[in-house]
Amino acid sequence: MLKRISMLVVAGLAAATLSACGSSGGGSGSGGGGDDAITMGFSQVGAESGWRTANTKSVQESAKTAGITLKFSDAQQKQENQIKAIRSYIQQKVDVIAFSPVVESGWDTVLKEAKNAKIPVILTDRAVDSKDTSLYKTFLGSDFVEEGRKAGKWLVEQYKDAKDPVNIVELQGTTGSAPANDRKAGFQEIIGADPKFKVIASQTGDFTRAKGKEVMEAFLKANPDIDVLYAHNDDMGLGAIEAIEGAGKVPGKDIKIITVDAVHDGMQALADGKINYIVECSPLLGPQLMDLAKKVVKGESVPPRVVTEETTFTQEQAKTALPDRKY
Ligand code: AHR
Repeated sequence: MLKRISMLVVAGLAAATLSACGSSGGGSGSGGGGDDAITMGFSQVGAESGWRTANTKSVQESAKTAGITLKFSDAQQKQENQIKAIRSYIQQKVDVIAFSPVVESGWDTVLKEAKNAKIPVILTDRAVDSKDTSLYKTFLGSDFVEEGRKAGKWLVEQYKDAKDPVNIVELQGTTGSAPANDRKAGFQEIIGADPKFKVIASQTGDFTRAKGKEVMEAFLKANPDIDVLYAHNDDMGLGAIEAIEGAGKVPGKDIKIITVDAVHDGMQALADGKINYIVECSPLLGPQLMDLAKKVVKGESVPPRVVTEETTFTQEQAKTALPDRKY
């Protein structure tokens, strides 16, 4: 009897741990219960943008299709919540941990704990800056520096004949995150070659629409002569459009707008002429993530870096692509 009660307590505790980190089953599919069934613990950044919502859907649906049991937690853009979730997955002895790190720094301790517990880790979407690359098996995601370069190249081409200074404001992503650091660096690398391009204000909008609007309102008040907005994602760009319209200016005309992502709402604004150019960042990482997970759990070798294939969109290209856009 005592044994039965303690088993129930253990089961209850396990369930409590699961719900404490906001997990939800992704479906056990054909993998559930078999000898080679895989359980993945996935720590998501949050739900800050249309991109993130599409990424979460892709991961959850792909886990189901692949027969991988998914324990999912939403960190609400807080590193401490991600560390807690990863520790909980280690305790639960999942087969593989995947996560999209909200910021680049500060992961070594928890990654060492996973390594000591012999649980392989896959980085997805965003990178960490750990020197010890043996702490994770692979990193699947976009080349954010290249995305910044693509934005810069379009701008340089648009203003190639301009003689006057080009005043740029920049809405950065979450401070300390890989996409914010890299998209800024890639853009700067290209426009920095010509002194007429001047970034007159640059501030974080945390990848959200609300913050993008708020910061753009402040930019507009402080700077009467803004020529270009470079927003590190569509959502901040869409928030900024509201601010620009609120200030009596015409987005896409009075102020040229470049964003990154190419989610549906961004593409619609591009097709409508309110955004001028979008650099794609694909959130559909789920299928590749599940393939990599199966391989690392089996002990097969995987490439240390898997780069997502992406494109760019002009206003005309957006009109053509919109009807078939999946996110
Ligand atoms: O890490 C990818 C970035 O995170 C996307 O560009 C942005 O929309 C999201 O919040």
